[in-house]
Amino acid sequence: MLPIDASSYREWRAAKLDRYPKSVAELVTDVGSLTDLSGGQKNAILQNCRRANMAIYTCRDAHASREAIRKFAANFGLTRLDHHLCANADGVSELAVAASGVRGGYVPYSSRGLSWHTDGYYNAESKRLQAVVLHCVQDAAEGGQNAVLDPEIAYLRLRDASPDYIEALEHPNCMDIPANNGADGEIRPAVSGPVFWYDTASGALRMRYSARKKNIRWRNDAVTTAAREFLSELLGAEDGLVLRFSLEPGQGLISNNVLHNRTAFEDSPGKTRLLYRARFFDSIVEGENQV
Ligand SMILES: [Fe+2]
Repeated sequence: MLPIDASSYREWRAAKLDRYPKSVAELVTDVGSLTDLSGGQKNAILQNCRRANMAIYTCRDAHASREAIRKFAANFGLTRLDHHLCANADGVSELAVAASGVRGGYVPYSSRGLSWHTDGYYNAESKRLQAVVLHCVQDAAEGGQNAVLDPEIAYLRLRDASPDYIEALEHPNCMDIPANNGADGEIRPAVSGPVFWYDTASGALRMRYSARKKNIRWRNDAVTTAAREFLSELLGAEDGLVLRFSLEPGQGLISNNVLHNRTAFEDSPGKTRLLYRARFFDSIVEGENQV
């Protein structure tokens, strides 16, 4: 939760920077089995999520079932899955190169790089995604590296630069996404919304963002443009805040939908990249929410 008054904010800011991981290794927890977490493993993951809104696990079963991913996620209160266009019937997507079909038209299902974004930035307000689990079954022969940044760190750096940037990015028409029209008509209506907003129940910061040049309509004013440029520089900076890693088979990222990108990759006959992705309308919580 972001404190409202200035002195509490300064305290929160200092603690956030102090606790933020200095390396990816600090985020990794060895869990053995995805479906049988110990209390200590669960706490270690939660602790990293408190520090950085994300955690990485290493489990012994790279070929975990999609059901195992759902069970793992439920430990952290993640149960309301987004059954979106390209997901399987159980709501878990298989991210791999798709040569044809509905998936073939979308960059995540290609070997191309993905620019910085939060998942579901194009979703309507009622379907905004709060958390994502990404599980690596098989890494690529080359490439496919991820970079991540906690939205709270992005907020903090933007506010350091200018509180006006925050105000601009909170505007309800800051970032508009035109409708997605397929051959048979509209797949998704146009969506308008802010970059930053706050969960009404918890006060937690939320973020939707895409660095894509196409299919995004930004509010056309000088402060919004300056804020976008600042954020873009922040995401490209080598100042230790952006963390980079390649998930190995059996590793996964659980996050409160943090900012991320992906480099292009190449498959080879024995190394065909496959990741499971489950996206949730819930955010990570500390309750006992087992399925
Ligand atoms: Fe993504």
